[in-house]
Amino acid sequence: HETAGLSAHQLVVRRGWAFKVTLLFHQAINWSKHSLDLEVQLGSLSERFPVHFTAQCYSPLRWSARVFPDNVHSHSVSVHVCSPVLSSVASYHLLLHIQSHHNMYNYELGTFVLLCNPWFKDDPVSMPLEVQLQEYIQSDYGLVYVGTHQSVRQQPWAFGQYEPGVLEACMQLLQVSPQHQSDRQADYLRRVDPVYLCRVLCAMVNCNDDLGVLAGKWQGSYMDGVSPTEWTGSAEILHQWMASSCSPVRYGQCWVFACVLCTVLRVFGIPSRVVTVFNAAHDANANLIIEEYYSSTGEKFNLSKDSIWNFHVWVECWMRRGDLGAEFDGWQVVDPTPQEKSAGVYCCGPCPVSAVQKRCFRCPFDASFILASVDADVIRLIVRDGLVMGRSVDTEWVGQLIYTKSIGSDKPENLTHTYKARSECVEMIHVCLSGGPPHLEVSLDMEKAPSMGDSICLCVTISNHSSHPRFLTEHLNAQLKHYNSCPTRTSGGRIFCVVFSVLTLHHSIQASQYKFLLTQDDIVNVAVVIKDMRSKARVMAAQEFNICSHQISIEVEGGDCIQMKKTCMAHVSYTNHCGNVLAGAVLCVDGYGLLQNKLALLQPGESIRASVSIVASSPGTKLLQATFSHSQSPGVVSRSFHKISVHN
Ligand SMILES: *[C@@H]1O[C@H](CO)[C@@H](O)[C@H](O)[C@H]1NC(C)=O
Ligand SMILES: *[C@@H]1O[C@H](CO)[C@@H](O)[C@H](O)[C@H]1NC(C)=O
Ligand SMILES: *[C@@H]1O[C@H](CO)[C@@H](O)[C@H](O)[C@H]1NC(C)=O
Ligand SMILES: *[C@@H]1O[C@H](CO)[C@@H](O)[C@H](O)[C@H]1NC(C)=O
Repeated sequence: HETAGLSAHQLVVRRGWAFKVTLLFHQAINWSKHSLDLEVQLGSLSERFPVHFTAQCYSPLRWSARVFPDNVHSHSVSVHVCSPVLSSVASYHLLLHIQSHHNMYNYELGTFVLLCNPWFKDDPVSMPLEVQLQEYIQSDYGLVYVGTHQSVRQQPWAFGQYEPGVLEACMQLLQVSPQHQSDRQADYLRRVDPVYLCRVLCAMVNCNDDLGVLAGKWQGSYMDGVSPTEWTGSAEILHQWMASSCSPVRYGQCWVFACVLCTVLRVFGIPSRVVTVFNAAHDANANLIIEEYYSSTGEKFNLSKDSIWNFHVWVECWMRRGDLGAEFDGWQVVDPTPQEKSAGVYCCGPCPVSAVQKRCFRCPFDASFILASVDADVIRLIVRDGLVMGRSVDTEWVGQLIYTKSIGSDKPENLTHTYKARSECVEMIHVCLSGGPPHLEVSLDMEKAPSMGDSICLCVTISNHSSHPRFLTEHLNAQLKHYNSCPTRTSGGRIFCVVFSVLTLHHSIQASQYKFLLTQDDIVNVAVVIKDMRSKARVMAAQEFNICSHQISIEVEGGDCIQMKKTCMAHVSYTNHCGNVLAGAVLCVDGYGLLQNKLALLQPGESIRASVSIVASSPGTKLLQATFSHSQSPGVVSRSFHKISVHN
């Protein structure tokens, strides 16, 4: 049933398909004198059905069992048991009843786990292509895209469906859910429906409102737990949750929540993938407008309840939406990061991606919130002494790029068009919002994504649509912000100029000016404010970007295909481009199934170079990972990974 590896102890089968149970007897049985019944039990619910020894018509809506004539022997009989395709996902008890003229014998045969069946066309989660099923159900290796839309980084993630204990943890999630605790019978009956399952599981991945898996934290110290950036897979998190009797595991951020939900959905047989939205809006009042406040010199204020994440990660799962109609079948967004409540609990979706594209605000579940995340407009307001001195609208910034890992490859698949179809009518709304074409326009562009040690080159373009000459002032401000938009440090500049029809101003920020930017996760917010000296009107533009760190190079002697149990050498090196900040520099090398322990390599100097010996303990794809950090940086400066395939 495509369940190999999910459990070493239990029978794991998929709904709608028959599985074979062979009954062995200590004495010969005359089958014309006995009849067999099977019974499946789920809590107080049960269904008893006869085992047929002759060809029969079966209802696909009921449990059924039959024996093929070849499988009947005096001491054994093999029974094919088939579940209805719309069965509840759960762990069932299987019972046997043997009846003769005089006696009735009852046996408990054991338990089995029943999962959704994406291979079967009648299951609402069915997926047509084998390559899709391999990627979205069976693959336990994934990539998460992070960073900014100009410089996208990829991080590997081990989904871990096949790690011992993961299936048990997933079953436990359903059993401890508030729905199950409050009404077991109703919960079992509703577990037929993938929409219901997704909603329950989405709420259970965060620990808000329930005994869920992960506690979120976005700032401050992670000393009393694990920093969200340190996790590398879901199994460790689920194990920790099980081992602590369902106490929350500290700490998660969006990609951790999403990857754990993706693992759980894949285990249950609901095709799913992890999706990154760059510049995702968190629109607290869901009005499709994100307001940002700036000073008249371009300094960003922390005033708005709304915010924009440089990236946000959620999950898409695949199903038919019987509750909505065929046009909403396909990928559905589910977002386990606790941001806003949906029907009273922290969970979001499933919401059809097609409903987002068609701008169906009321589509269940949570379409307006998801639509705002990918398609809100940013209104930047320039305020002074409590008054709005100018404003500009940016219709492009939010949801600029939406990525997932492509099937069977490490390349990203661009999903932007599946969420956003710009129509003329939408453009009209944007023009109305901005109050007609302004006489003065400004844009701010970066020539290329900067790397650490390079100057940052910015280009301000001012276009004039009026018939009068203008005297303008320009303020350019760059500040550091954390991942969730909190400004922390400011530096400014100021020049005067006169504009003709189009004027381009070039600015460059030297490496020595941003020395404080030391980790790959820091984001710079740059804003330019242009003021017309005569009319006092102001316009502005803003950009956000990160400074890419240089890659750690990892090479395996003799190529990336190695033999199991044979010692190989891997060479790891990193060259620092950030001046003399190598004090306390550490290059860490890590690899499950390749290295016994994490290795920390300390070396003074411009660059670090080291060779480590690796031995693979099992076949398959392994990852060798390396991180670089030093005593002056609060986080990891650079992180790289290298895929190695191990054969017998
Ligand atoms: C099984 O029982 C039937 C009916 O009582 C009888 O006719 C038949 O001979 C029995 N078969 C064997 C192998 O004992
Ligand atoms: C992603 O797709 C969008 C919409 O189709 C397109 O405008 C954009 O250029 C693409 N970006 C990349 C990096 O492929
Ligand atoms: C601004 O542009 C208009 C054309 O759009 C031009 O006629 C006018 O002279 C320009 N103003 C200045 C100050 O150059
Ligand atoms: C921004 O404001 C919010 C509350 O309005 C506060 O919780 C947060 O700590 C502030 N951030 C910074 C960096 O000041």
